[in-house]
Amino acid sequence: MDDRTFDRHIGKLTLEQKVRLLTGATTWRAAGEGGIALREIVMSDGPAGVRGEAWDERRPSALLPSASALGALWDEALVEELGGLLAAEAVRKGVDVVLAPTLNLHRTPLGGRHFECFSEDPELTGRNGAALIRGVQAHGVAATAKHYVANDSETDRLTVDVRASERTLREVYLAPFEAAVEAGVWLVMAGYNSVNGVTMTSHPLLDEPLKGEWGFDGVVVSDWGAVRFTEGPARAALDLAMPGPQSPWGAALVQAVKEGRVPEKAVDDKVRRLFRLADRVGAFAPRRRRHLPVRGSLNTRALLRRAAAAGSVLLCNQGLLPLDPTELSTVAVIGAHAASPRTQGGGSAGVFPSAVVTPLAGVRARLRGRARVVHAPGPTPGAAAAPLGTDRCDDPRSGAPGVLLRVLDESGRELLAEHRLSGRQLEPDLPPGAHTVEISALLRPQRTGEWTVGVGGFGRMTLTVDGDTILDGVFPRETDDPAVVHVNPPVQQARTELTSKRRPVHLVARRELVPGCGRATVVTAAPPEPDPESAVAAAVEAAREADAAIVVVGTTEQDETEGRDRGDLSLGGCQDDLVRAVAAVNPRTVVVVNSGGPVEMPWRNDVGAVLLMWFPGQEAGAGLADVLFGLQEPGGRLPTTWGTSLADTPVTRTRPAEGRLDYAEGLHVGHRAWLRAGRAPAFWFGHGLGYTTWEYEAVDAPARVTAGEAFTVRVRLRNTGARAGREVVQVYVARPGSAVERPVRWFAGYAAVRAEAGRTVTAEVEVAPRALRHWSEEECAWSTEPGPYRLMVGRSAGDLRWEGEVTVERRACTG
Ligand code: BGC
Repeated sequence: MDDRTFDRHIGKLTLEQKVRLLTGATTWRAAGEGGIALREIVMSDGPAGVRGEAWDERRPSALLPSASALGALWDEALVEELGGLLAAEAVRKGVDVVLAPTLNLHRTPLGGRHFECFSEDPELTGRNGAALIRGVQAHGVAATAKHYVANDSETDRLTVDVRASERTLREVYLAPFEAAVEAGVWLVMAGYNSVNGVTMTSHPLLDEPLKGEWGFDGVVVSDWGAVRFTEGPARAALDLAMPGPQSPWGAALVQAVKEGRVPEKAVDDKVRRLFRLADRVGAFAPRRRRHLPVRGSLNTRALLRRAAAAGSVLLCNQGLLPLDPTELSTVAVIGAHAASPRTQGGGSAGVFPSAVVTPLAGVRARLRGRARVVHAPGPTPGAAAAPLGTDRCDDPRSGAPGVLLRVLDESGRELLAEHRLSGRQLEPDLPPGAHTVEISALLRPQRTGEWTVGVGGFGRMTLTVDGDTILDGVFPRETDDPAVVHVNPPVQQARTELTSKRRPVHLVARRELVPGCGRATVVTAAPPEPDPESAVAAAVEAAREADAAIVVVGTTEQDETEGRDRGDLSLGGCQDDLVRAVAAVNPRTVVVVNSGGPVEMPWRNDVGAVLLMWFPGQEAGAGLADVLFGLQEPGGRLPTTWGTSLADTPVTRTRPAEGRLDYAEGLHVGHRAWLRAGRAPAFWFGHGLGYTTWEYEAVDAPARVTAGEAFTVRVRLRNTGARAGREVVQVYVARPGSAVERPVRWFAGYAAVRAEAGRTVTAEVEVAPRALRHWSEEECAWSTEPGPYRLMVGRSAGDLRWEGEVTVERRACTG
């Protein structure tokens, strides 16, 4: 269809009908219009999987590695392939629009959604975002570049006013969105935050550069609930207010148009864009199966396993990895995360994975029949209690593993009863007359002692254990943040003494539904915590006897989640003590870090190896075992600089002062900030070791180039180790003596190559013209300074192997 057809459709609609299309029909659907055969368009989060329209654990999803793990791949082809998997999942779940990728930056390691963003660098983020978008959209499913723009931390995210110069915005925070538009993205999501005093859903940046200069012809959708006024967003370039049907648009927008406060042609332009999207995703026709590459579940699992291994980053290795299974008779696998890993971050990105391979299961599978694997969980890492699940609960009605969910009317009459697999119910069906949500279970306590049980949500909540009320209160909502209200509400806890050998206890949690209190109800139970000292002692005993110790440490859902930022970077709950104690008795100790972003590792120089597994998705343990035992190389490189400590980190501010968050560091984010501060981090952007070694033999770079033209840096390198490997060759640029402020050096491009042991290979790194340009605020335009630039080739921002010079010449005047 073309614009003329869209305009014909627009001509058939009344103002009321047009405006109806501009607000969601439901939480996850854009409205349809029967008269023009337009069906509803279904949306779903993203980015680590496609959840579908409901948070329903009975309809699980393929869980991909989180974005920081994808940023660590330095492999756009693989990211594109994973985009194809998201598209396949979307089609399987009847979803037209995936709310991914997140293109905000790792401005500070404290950012609560750090795991959901690719990297600290605009160039690397833009390339990954573009690859994911290509992968998703190649199959007729829309991708959404979010959150436009400067939504890089969570504190007061609904109201924060980010202050950044035009140059900083253009060169750093807008750059990944520009790459997304170049890749042809079909939606852009406007964030909750303000930039330089204007809220993003009404911001002139939606017009220029997005729709004007960059030529974005798709739909600007609001973040959920981010449209708070009628006229501002309607006159600005915001097209679709989500969710619905309640919104500040609707009748108020019709009125504003009738009174001439919003031009009708602005409404028509929004509708035209929606029609373009509808045409792209096939919504002008009944839903039908689309042609997609065949991807069975085995295929999916193999891809996710490969991705988990390829993104893992080996930070240091005293010759310990890979482990040779033939030399092992006992291996100690230590840490709570070994048996309960974090496979994804918290918040709207969450999905229910079809299955999870834990690190412990992955190691056991690899060593089965070869070596004994012992597990010591160590101290509890400070995580909040997990929601009830099938592992220790049964449905009191059917007896099947899981819980009973009931919805009751005001008189207590049952309106709905369902057997469910999780005590975390975020969007249960609510029949008319629904007054109370009840989740009940028969809990089998595996340990005697004081258990912590809890119920999460807002409003009046009660919790009984075998008929005794242990919690009863009214818990008012203190925030508007949807990530808290609908996804991660606070849990009210109570303690109760339980005995393990006794019959199961009957837990009943009830929450009354009142307007504004969200739909989330969560019931949790946690056994008594072992005393940390004896837990460490048990781990030490296991490690002392073993040929190697694998200690898995990590963050918790409270540390890395949407809706709030981290307070510090330390590993919670005595995990540092655990690592030190284990490494003291076993020099063959590998520490595996299970986090979405940087953590402090004060013991990093005292252990045999440190390997980052990130939030690796459902095949966590399978991919990890492939790397630990050498079937795969740890292929990843850091997409973000890992500091020594929070105190040393140059950019950490996430808390606004009087509502404003000043991006005072300007262009100097990530490795650029460390370079400017003259400080060495623990590990630089780009760092990562494989299982072989490389010699950089020769570099061939042009001495002169023309401004505005790409050029290629050729790097010959030799694999000097004993096995085949992959190397990520990086190019950095500097401009000493520049007339404008510049980073000390900045990342300009990379190429990954593979070579057999002993072989040479040439990496061809293309440097795009945008790597040399800067935004001139005086001219309001891009500009490339002529003259000499330093070119650097290296293995990371801090490990350079070659330096040379390239002179940029003005483009000849053709006039
Ligand atoms: C998040 C978005 C998400 C949306 C819908 C918002 O709170 O910021 O990333 O797509 O909710 O779940």
